Amino acid sequence: MPAEKKVYLRIEDLPSVGAATAQKLREIGFSTIESLATATIAELAAAGIGEKRAAEIIAAAREAIEISWVTAKQLAELKKGVGRITTGSKALDNLIGGGVETQSITEFFGEFGSGKSQLCHQLAVNVQLPTERGGLSGAALYIDTENTFRIERIAQMAKHVGLDPDEACERIIYAEAYNSDHQILLLEKADKVIKENNVRLIIIDSLTAHFRSEYVGRQSLPERQQKLNKHMHKLLRLARAFNAAAVVTNQVMARPDEFFSAMAVLPVGGHIVGHTSHTRIYLRKAAGKNVRIARLVASPYLPEGEALFRITENGIEDLEGENAE
Ligand code: GTP
Ligand code: MG
Repeated sequence: MPAEKKVYLRIEDLPSVGAATAQKLREIGFSTIESLATATIAELAAAGIGEKRAAEIIAAAREAIEISWVTAKQLAELKKGVGRITTGSKALDNLIGGGVETQSITEFFGEFGSGKSQLCHQLAVNVQLPTERGGLSGAALYIDTENTFRIERIAQMAKHVGLDPDEACERIIYAEAYNSDHQILLLEKADKVIKENNVRLIIIDSLTAHFRSEYVGRQSLPERQQKLNKHMHKLLRLARAFNAAAVVTNQVMARPDEFFSAMAVLPVGGHIVGHTSHTRIYLRKAAGKNVRIARLVASPYLPEGEALFRITENGIEDLEGENAE
């Protein structure tokens, strides 16, 4: 007979976490068992917790939520738990394997006006739809760094998919990040709000803008990359712990020497962002009214390819007929 499994709800329910330790942990952004299960010893040590104790806490949290080795067969079962959110365009969904997926990061990069923020708005609405309509019946967490989030646009998109605009706005949890440190902090403190609101989509629009404006010059590059790297890993761990999709945007700089080539752009953040992101989609303007081209440039398992979509009053849509194969 297997022993009955103890259910841990709060971090102070874990062995070796008393009220004082729980308080310390919360202060540095670990308010849930899920976040502790994916923490590192160094992160807990930052709150003044000894290494041995930190290791015990992490192990207990892992046991509580059963993070352990799995067989490939079990992995296949876990992967079945991966959810997808429709972008609003079937062509774009097909390009990325059926929509933006949970448990990993999807990066949209492209020049100004290429549709990155519009996609973020659309996904924040679509995640609320039931699964049979391409959503996850969940809420969205929206970190806005450039003050480009528009409530009216959300309402417009919500109406079009048949959601009540007020309710749709209530299920988008929003914060504006004033600088890169604030952006990092917002994400570090996000686990509680994610859990309490059934957040299934975490958006950072833009991931890189603050970093780019604050860390100028070659000498500041290593520090910038190191901070971005840590930030991305935190995002990935949240996405895994809560089975949420993570979507980030990244503006690109033109590369004058390759001005006419299709890939004459260089994502800000360089390799670090590239390696942590699992799916990368390059957006650019195309001929035709509000038409955009999405190019899948990196994916763990899908081939490269392109899809067209349109940005209309309704939101992100397919080009009627033209690319509906
Ligand atoms: P940056 O953040 O500046 O790098 O650009 P971005 O890639 O985020 O661009 P964004 O998603 O803001 O796309 C802007 C484009 O979307 C505009 O040029 C319009 O073509 C389109 N757009 C935005 N809002 C609306 C709208 O309410 N109606 C319609 N029809 N199009 C819109
Ligand atoms: Mg934008």
